[in-house]
Amino acid sequence: MAAKLKASVSVLALGVALASGSALAYQQGDVVLRAGAALVDPQEDSSELALNGTNLSDTPLDIDSSVGVGSNTQIGLTVMYMLNNNVGVELLAATPFSHEVTANLGGTVVDAAEVKHLPPTVSVQYFPMSSDSALQPYVGVGLNYTVFFDEEVDSELDAVTTSLGLGDAKSLELDDSIGLSFELGCDYAISDTLVLNASVWMIDIDTTATFKYDDGSKITADVDIDPIVYMVGLGYKF
Ligand code: NI
Repeated sequence: MAAKLKASVSVLALGVALASGSALAYQQGDVVLRAGAALVDPQEDSSELALNGTNLSDTPLDIDSSVGVGSNTQIGLTVMYMLNNNVGVELLAATPFSHEVTANLGGTVVDAAEVKHLPPTVSVQYFPMSSDSALQPYVGVGLNYTVFFDEEVDSELDAVTTSLGLGDAKSLELDDSIGLSFELGCDYAISDTLVLNASVWMIDIDTTATFKYDDGSKITADVDIDPIVYMVGLGYKF
């Protein structure tokens, strides 16, 4: 993901090169609305898939298995309120992210599902620069709540489970997740009210995926999605 970070850094460098001279002057009571492209890049790690609680490696199938989660880009929105000249509180919102989920079954990777989620995150941010600096880097810590919805099982996984005698999945559910987030970002003033922004969040998102079948069988996997979220955009200071 170095390329994406580099892209964020170049946008910041461009902002610096614009050398507007206007001061951003973040002060208590300011509200900054930022919008841009937000990429959720899962750094996933999963348990083995388990059939009715037994890992597939311990069943007669005797295969190693794991779950993969693809990345997705959506429109990200943040709204920040300055509690004082150096501390802000921010809400991260976005249009729903949609991720392809794959299952590695004994070395064969099949499309398993598509899931959507919303990851609202509230962060407290610290701005170390003086309030008249045009460049405003910040760090934040926060709490994320991720809710999954529109889980759809892929026909490729259904073909596998049908060959195992389970048939097509009746449903798929992913548990909601609450976890900590850590954020680094930077605003650069290009006028009294407009800022360029680049920010990165590391978010702890852990869930359990449960596929249910007609005979009452369940296939489950614990998945730590733990994405890095990159956002580059423009902000407006009210
Ligand atoms: Ni985690």
